[in-house]
Amino acid sequence: MATTLEQTVCINNDFTGKDVVSIGQFNRNDVEVVMREAAIVAAGVREGGLDRSLSGMLVANLFYEPSTRTFLSFEAAAKRLGADTIATQGVEYSSISKGETLEDTIRTVERYADIITLRHSRVGAAALAATVAEKPVINAGDGVGEHPTQALLDLFTIRQKLGHTDGLRVTMVGDLKNGRTVHSLARLLAMHEVQLNYVSPKELAMPEALTWELADSGARQHATPDLDEVLPETDVLYVTRIQKERFENEAAYLQHKGRYVVDRSAMDRAPADMILMHPLPRVGEISLEVDADPRAVYFDQVENGMFVRMALLTLIAGRSAVPRAAKQTASPAAV
Ligand code: NCD
Repeated sequence: MATTLEQTVCINNDFTGKDVVSIGQFNRNDVEVVMREAAIVAAGVREGGLDRSLSGMLVANLFYEPSTRTFLSFEAAAKRLGADTIATQGVEYSSISKGETLEDTIRTVERYADIITLRHSRVGAAALAATVAEKPVINAGDGVGEHPTQALLDLFTIRQKLGHTDGLRVTMVGDLKNGRTVHSLARLLAMHEVQLNYVSPKELAMPEALTWELADSGARQHATPDLDEVLPETDVLYVTRIQKERFENEAAYLQHKGRYVVDRSAMDRAPADMILMHPLPRVGEISLEVDADPRAVYFDQVENGMFVRMALLTLIAGRSAVPRAAKQTASPAAV
């Protein structure tokens, strides 16, 4: 949906044809609409009822950074809804390696497809694509920026496992500076009554601009390098990978790798009714021995990712069969 760079349009209860670039576009009602739609989609898939609501549509999945889950879940989501997909993975085999600009790539792809998903190494790449494209663009991760669809699937999983969001104490651990999933998730959770704990070394702290933004909106935030300080008072433990590809060199990365490892003994110190989440891939932050613990829900997140992306595609395509509350007045806003 072509917009100016400063004006990524708020969803405001009208998803049809909109881009999804940032969690900042959603109000709490919009989030509930996605959660509701995803629950219906999940039930449909589980009961084997094939919903072909995107039949005849084509989704282009443009992934210029590595991905397993986000890429495959968008592929699976589109196909399960009856749409077809075209895809490009990696820079090497695309015209970007010949020097083509992102804008030209997007102008080309939208001549083929109805919805574009984009993963790119540059912060703001999805916002830029959205300014160029008439067709909807979904941010599938823009560098160290945001990963809004991951945050929505994380929230869906929290609701599925714990039944509510308000009142929760959510502890995010690891590379909070470079991890785009926690940037989007913190924004999304800050719309609710939650306590946000940030556990990281100082050098990998949540970006200050983001913590100020969330403080302005009334969020309760606490930062510490010590996991054990907050672990006993945690309802959701959200572990992230040290983002190797964002470091200047291997030595800088190795300084932090292995700093936090959730193993059996950490789980023994954690509350019995907590859930343990991770966007994956994990590279040692959660020991394999923890997988059998009923509190470990990361592979449920994976499945929910497909449901939430099916919900978003349906809503953006304007093919939702779910009746929604009366439309509020749409208003553009900066994100
Ligand atoms: C995350 C990502 O790409 O930001 N993975 C994902 O999409 N599930 C997390 C990561 O790579 O660490």
